[in-house]
Amino acid sequence: MKAHLITYGCQMNEYDTHLVQSQLVSLGADIVDGVDEADFVLINTCAVRGKPVDKVRSVLGELRKLKTQRPLVVGMMGCLAQLEEGQQMARKFEVDVLLGPGSLLDIGKALESNERFWGLQFKDELHGHIPPPPAGKLQAHLTIMRGCDHHCTYCIVPTTRGPQVSRSPDDILRELDMQLAAGVQEVTLLGQNVNAYGVDGGAKLAGYPSFADLLRLVGRSGVSRVKFTTSHPMNFTEDVAAAMAETPAVCEFVHLPVQSGSDRVLRRMAREYTREQYLSHIADIRRHLPHAVLATDIIVGFPGETEEDFQDTLSLYDEVGYDSAYMFIYSPRPGTPSYKHFADLPREVKTERLQRLIVKQKEWSARRNAAHVGSIQEVLIRGDAHSEGFLEGHTRGNHPTVVSRAIGADGPGVYRVRIGHATPHMMYGRVLGEGGQELPELPRLNPEAAAMSAPLQMA
Ligand code: 5AD
Ligand code: SF4
Repeated sequence: MKAHLITYGCQMNEYDTHLVQSQLVSLGADIVDGVDEADFVLINTCAVRGKPVDKVRSVLGELRKLKTQRPLVVGMMGCLAQLEEGQQMARKFEVDVLLGPGSLLDIGKALESNERFWGLQFKDELHGHIPPPPAGKLQAHLTIMRGCDHHCTYCIVPTTRGPQVSRSPDDILRELDMQLAAGVQEVTLLGQNVNAYGVDGGAKLAGYPSFADLLRLVGRSGVSRVKFTTSHPMNFTEDVAAAMAETPAVCEFVHLPVQSGSDRVLRRMAREYTREQYLSHIADIRRHLPHAVLATDIIVGFPGETEEDFQDTLSLYDEVGYDSAYMFIYSPRPGTPSYKHFADLPREVKTERLQRLIVKQKEWSARRNAAHVGSIQEVLIRGDAHSEGFLEGHTRGNHPTVVSRAIGADGPGVYRVRIGHATPHMMYGRVLGEGGQELPELPRLNPEAAAMSAPLQMA
């Protein structure tokens, strides 16, 4: 069998694609790069907003057309598969295999079956399953929990991925050991809300460390860099910041989604924290990690959001001074409380606010990135950049970085890089040689972007 997998959505989905792909390989399948060569196409779906759902609908339409021309098995997995909305789509577009996020290990059974196969249960076996490490990669994801116990009113994830289940520390450390043996240097611990690790359904699990202690454990394993995503502010403890500060391998990067800067909106979102409580977490992080790189998620145009509420989000952005942010227009998702109870704001209001927020984000990212100019960063180089002669990678703070080839870095690895130039979205630098001596100047890549970030340069 020749299988082609398409992935939408978050890093959790990327991990799940890798998991299912390795199952397919163990069943004897070849993984191919395009739909044309494939006799099995599997789409890993996302349901968090309307756009990825529309995308899946259009791909399924194309695949159904293909099925009239040649034999083809079509599968759909992930969050959308778990929802009535996705199942209706699956019926309409004659999908053969449907696997919810808890039934991924049914892939073999599904392909053996001669009829349509739908797996929609949350199965325990998934938590103990250890997928083989990614081949030839310096970076790996490692799922430490599945599901979510929060009930943010806009969010479909608790429905699609179910309640929180933490993986046992033994399974996590075994998977990590295998990744290390395969040459992985950076591991990203994944979960919907990693700070709540070891406390499922409000109950502390015997023998499970707290998330802060898990960071300490993983940090001692010999891995060069540890990152994690994502965190719910309500479960963020100062001990996590302390563990980050005292564990050198844990990168000083925190993604702490705030969603809104207005208490009134936060309450309607059922986020379970106030603006002030959120800012006190940021203060804890900055106290323990003065050079922390901070990222967030923000939803604009939540139902009932007034101009004043939105101003609160803009002012919170200034108070934190985020390095980067993922910004989303509120998307009503059938099955969520906010879809049922609140009226959506007009499209123009939402898009206009998003534009203003993007301006703010760009200003801050330019300023924060420019502040790194002249500094030395540890860059994990993945491989070739788009422009010839350059390599691309990212810093411990997750800044995408481009470095020149041929001067000390000619392949993937972790290098010390002096940053010579920064734009809001990218840093440019040159690798420092053995012993730290300076190497030749990196050619100026983008003079326009340089001019843009220059006036904001911090002392
Ligand atoms: N509309 C817009 N954005 C959403 N997110 C989650 N649900 C919605 C929705 N209904 C965003 C949140 C979350 C990120 C993964 O997606 O900001 O942190
Ligand atoms: Fe959704 Fe909230 Fe869970 Fe994140 S923490 S997945 S926003 S319910």
